[in-house]
Amino acid sequence: MIVCVCKGVACSKIRALLRDGVDSVEAVRASCGAGTDCGSCRSTIEDMIEEHHETSAPLSTLRLGRASASL
Ligand code: FES
Repeated sequence: MIVCVCKGVACSKIRALLRDGVDSVEAVRASCGAGTDCGSCRSTIEDMIEEHHETSAPLSTLRLGRASASL
């Protein structure tokens, strides 16, 4: 799926950047150009960054039910 229509950047490209340590909209913009034209994709990029942080958080920071894991 294309996230940035203006620059033709797919979500797979942005996910690859996030896996490689890119962690801000500005860094995504600098790396692949997504979000550098009309800007309508920036909120989607922000959502992808947030989702990436949530799913790649260390186990010790995840809440498991009512209790937090303490490793
Ligand atoms: S859709 Fe990404 S800058 Fe326009």
